[in-house]
Amino acid sequence: MRKVEFFKHNIGPEETARVSDALKALVLTTGEVVQEFEERFAAYLGARWAVGVTSCTAALQLALLARGVGPGDEVITTPMSFVATSNAILHAGASPVFVDVEPETGNVSAGLIEQAISPRTKAILPVHLYGQMCDMKRIREIAGRQGLVVIEDAAHALEAWREGVRPGQLSEAACFSFYPTKSITSGEGGAVVTNTTEIAQELRKLRLHGMDLAAADRYSKRYQHWDADCLGWKYNMDNIQAALLVPQLRHVERYWRRREEISRRYETAFSEDPHVDFPKVLPDSKSGRNSFTIWVDRRRRDDILWGTQERGVGVAVNFRPIHLLSYYRRTFDYREGMFPVAEEIGQRTITLPLYPRLTDDEVEYVIGVVKQTVRKASGSRKRRAGPRATSLSRVKR
Ligand SMILES: Cc1ncc(COP(=O)(O)O)c(C=O)c1O
Repeated sequence: MRKVEFFKHNIGPEETARVSDALKALVLTTGEVVQEFEERFAAYLGARWAVGVTSCTAALQLALLARGVGPGDEVITTPMSFVATSNAILHAGASPVFVDVEPETGNVSAGLIEQAISPRTKAILPVHLYGQMCDMKRIREIAGRQGLVVIEDAAHALEAWREGVRPGQLSEAACFSFYPTKSITSGEGGAVVTNTTEIAQELRKLRLHGMDLAAADRYSKRYQHWDADCLGWKYNMDNIQAALLVPQLRHVERYWRRREEISRRYETAFSEDPHVDFPKVLPDSKSGRNSFTIWVDRRRRDDILWGTQERGVGVAVNFRPIHLLSYYRRTFDYREGMFPVAEEIGQRTITLPLYPRLTDDEVEYVIGVVKQTVRKASGSRKRRAGPRATSLSRVKR
């Protein structure tokens, strides 16, 4: 049977050569290669500082901590994200407060953020879902008026902008992931980007036990004593991870263009299909195109999910809303019906393969399989279950 993988990374000879060099060097942990990556990454984003860490989850946690968010504080965020987003808030010692999302994009609804602000609110943590940026101008305006910190989860949005604004430009910090399904990867890895020098300095300490000298500084010349003036974590990016990332950075836009091309082909193919909808890319914005998700009838979603896999197409669900995951239900007493738009998306969504190495032929195969599987599921359900479910655009907020 034909197989189209859900994801394939872009690691090739350039990256293996850089890693091989890194492995021959004396310092394997945080050193010169990390610094080179941080400079190039910040330059790509037009930001002042980038700080390399071991994951986006760590990046989010440290960014919150660096801005003084901690126990007793509330952070307003979205339930329509990977669980990492709200776990990072909990790891910082604060409490996530979810608000519902926009039906067109799945992004946190800026209008609802304001209503969720309490005396304990300290920060807003928007997630640029699938690569479409949230309304950062509005979020910044609310935060400015209410004296709140903004930390962006830009795991999907490296290449994105909206109304001329890129991640990190209207927030205290933006956090990125280098997990394998992201634009560039180091297997695991992440970074925080900020324009505030004090935040960058704090992050460098927090990622390494609160220490004021990294190993490369301590040992490369003569031994120097170091101090730790706060309790930090062990989240520092190493030179091997950075060596994987540096060459990929040169190709970010080329990789993005191919994902954009594939996404547009999917959009054209599925816009003719009455049973398939998908999130919108808003005018005056560039989506990072991290993922392409379709929205199908919620009663047929799992049949379609299994059906496409049976025909060799790798798919995923991004995301089942965080508040309905067992830990969150149990710990915070969340129930169904609290965030209806996020829940509707969570029940209807299927993520399709989207990566530069996907061939045109594979894209056509995916489209054919999805359409046939959807048609089959729609036919069999029609006989059993009546008309199709409410479309997202008609869900009341
Ligand atoms: C929106 C979002 N935020 C955060 C993360 C966490 O990233 P990491 O695995 O690098 O911690 C992910 C990972 O897939 C994600 O999709």
